[in-house]
Amino acid sequence: MTVNDRRLRATEPPADWMPSSWQRRVALQQPHYEDATELARATTQLAALPPLVTSWEVLALKQALAEAQEGERFLLQGGDCAESFSDCTSPVISNRLKVLLQMSLVLVHGLKKPVLRVGRFAGQYAKPRSADNETRDGVTLPSFRGDVVNGPAFTAEARRADPQRLIQAHAHSALTMNFVRALIDGGFADLHHPEYWDLAWVEHSPLAAEYRRMVAGIGDSLRFMETLAGPIASFSRVDFFTSHEALLLHYEQALTRQVPRNPGWFNLSTHFPWIGMRTAALDGAHVEYFRGIRNPIAVKVGPSVTPEQLLPLIDALNPQDEPGRLTLIHRMGNAGIARALPTLLDAVRREGRRVLWVADPMHGNTESTSNGYKTRRFDNIRGELDQAFDIHAAAGTRLGGVHLELTGEDVTECMGGARDLSETDLKRAYKSMVDPRLNYEQSLELAMLIVRKSEGSAG
Ligand code: PEP
Ligand code: CO
Repeated sequence: MTVNDRRLRATEPPADWMPSSWQRRVALQQPHYEDATELARATTQLAALPPLVTSWEVLALKQALAEAQEGERFLLQGGDCAESFSDCTSPVISNRLKVLLQMSLVLVHGLKKPVLRVGRFAGQYAKPRSADNETRDGVTLPSFRGDVVNGPAFTAEARRADPQRLIQAHAHSALTMNFVRALIDGGFADLHHPEYWDLAWVEHSPLAAEYRRMVAGIGDSLRFMETLAGPIASFSRVDFFTSHEALLLHYEQALTRQVPRNPGWFNLSTHFPWIGMRTAALDGAHVEYFRGIRNPIAVKVGPSVTPEQLLPLIDALNPQDEPGRLTLIHRMGNAGIARALPTLLDAVRREGRRVLWVADPMHGNTESTSNGYKTRRFDNIRGELDQAFDIHAAAGTRLGGVHLELTGEDVTECMGGARDLSETDLKRAYKSMVDPRLNYEQSLELAMLIVRKSEGSAG
């Protein structure tokens, strides 16, 4: 089979696949909807609404991810653990975008290669939970599963799985997407004006000063080049893609579409859906759904995954070894990565399988404090990322990106970092309803660490 044949074959879904064929498998982490007719009415309405992204954007991202697999790009994927409908506001969206743009500027400058920017937003509304129910003071209610399913308040009314929320999630994703697209098309990401990305409340940060020195240097080079060559349009805008955990399969199915000139099925709710660690079983509903769509896809890989489990998963999700198709996001924890990662890297390399390896240094480092906060220590996050680079270098593989939970808001959710936040600082501005996120300084510090690590391995 030639490379071209293989590309053609990869456009057709497997013969026994349909957007609904996941319903024949066990689907973990789904809510219980009381009224099947009400659910069917909502999904029918959703299936008639316009998609949020287009198939050609999806294919452009797949191509860019194929380049990242070859080491020609670096992936920066980040955003909230879970978006909420109430945070679908101008400042929250633009501040998050600002942090991601600043980080990507640090990375482009330091890595000397294009950075692929993928937001964890415009659809990140469903959350896996460790228990189906939650009990408080003797009262047991369904767990909060994200705004696309139910509400966070601890009342029977809020916790009921409400199919109308499927429509609301689509609408809030569209509002977010529309604003991000307008900002980017309107010149917000223009390299001539990086001051647009400044966050008012970080003026006195020592890292902000280092960042500004770098920006001033870039501005000088830009003016110098444009003096020689004239205005360079590609500095005025950037590409930005979206991603979310495609957990709630009724929602994903309703947005799985065929389009006129590209064969096959696309999930047009997002460019880059991923399978979470808890729903990645080979015979489960999520793997069944994902194997038939043409999007580039990712899978979270936790510390208990063995090569015997990972290789069949790669076969199921990318049987043609298509470039750009499959990203593996390892999330092992600072304490576990040295033990868990090397055997997986060796197995995938030995089999000659094409994947993009990405590190999520957040989800293996979650802990609870004595005063009841779910937090992560910045030292553990940094430590895992630091080790990830070294372990890949030793295995002869490449760490091609990072996956982070972060926000542009002034939060105190992760301990440590430039301001050395302590356990008692957490209560000052702990806003996350789910996992703790990096704040601006902690995010920028990680971007700088990535640059230092890559300089170390290049030198
Ligand atoms: C997440 O990304 O928020 C998440 C739940 O991750 P994981 O599936 O890796 O636990
Ligand atoms: Co999370």
